[in-house]
Amino acid sequence: MKSYSLRSPAKINLYLEIVGDRPDGFHELATVFQSIDLADLVHVRSGMQGVIQVECAAEGVPNDASNLAYRAAALMSERFPEAFAKCGGVSIEIEKRIPVAAGLAGGSGNGAAVLVGLDLAWGLGLTQGELQELAAELGSDVPFCVGGGTALATGRGEVLDPLAGVDQVWLVLAKYRSLGVSTPWAYQTYRAQFGAEYARTPEAQAARHTAAKSGPLVRSLQSLATGDRAGLSGLRPLLRNDLERVVLPAHPQIAQLRDLLDRLAPLGAMMSGSGPSVFALAESASQAQEIQAAARSALPDPDLEFWVTQFSAAGIRPVNQSV
Ligand code: C5P
Repeated sequence: MKSYSLRSPAKINLYLEIVGDRPDGFHELATVFQSIDLADLVHVRSGMQGVIQVECAAEGVPNDASNLAYRAAALMSERFPEAFAKCGGVSIEIEKRIPVAAGLAGGSGNGAAVLVGLDLAWGLGLTQGELQELAAELGSDVPFCVGGGTALATGRGEVLDPLAGVDQVWLVLAKYRSLGVSTPWAYQTYRAQFGAEYARTPEAQAARHTAAKSGPLVRSLQSLATGDRAGLSGLRPLLRNDLERVVLPAHPQIAQLRDLLDRLAPLGAMMSGSGPSVFALAESASQAQEIQAAARSALPDPDLEFWVTQFSAAGIRPVNQSV
């Protein structure tokens, strides 16, 4: 079996609307995913016959069957037992760059990378659609991670409408190292507090999906993708993340960070996913550096980490292959 090293990029949500409940216990969403240029490196190699192994030195990442990378390999071995038996076991090594449990889909991306890596290593020739169907069994945002770029997602987050790729937008990401937010807690708390606002019927949910798809954020992103930069300054009021309504009141530290970045960033700031990471948009690398420097001096806490990066069109990409 050939070995592959794959880049597994993080994502942010530029828009996250909780539309209603689903019969499967999840939430029906309308969300806009955007890949960013901060990525883990996932090495997929042949291992001991019949065994799946995951290794990651980063704190907070499990090296057992609860790791999405492990679950991805287990799913592939179940679906393609002959390829698994023929190629031996699977050994996965993850070099973490994306902060863990941050609302940036780092773990989901690693799962997507293992699907893509094993498809290549086992010579299966799966289509992107087939890989995304497998990805949906692993988690709501794993299908997006396979292809990356810019996309509007509905359903649990797995029904994807790709949008034209937006580039030349920078961002400052900030996260308190020691702070984590449980995604199930965020959604359950949201349901308890705001469930009365949910769209109850399939028709009402479909109407909210349609409104998001033809809404001003998607229109602005589409014109940005054609190179019309005029819309950049109008993004701020279009950013939306419903989960901020429960996460910010429960974590004043995140609320303070978000307010600070929003004051410093002309294009606005918001929490990503269920948090706790917060991003501030910028129209140039130098503006992003300035925002980062100003935020660092306003909040000189060694627990607070920053990254400057930019929007990316890339999903999972092999960067290296060896026999
Ligand atoms: O699919 P994923 O494993 O990322 O979801 C983590 C948790 O987030 C789920 O167990 C569920 O509690 C919540 N969730 C949800 N609705 C979604 C996505 C996630 O309620 N669309």
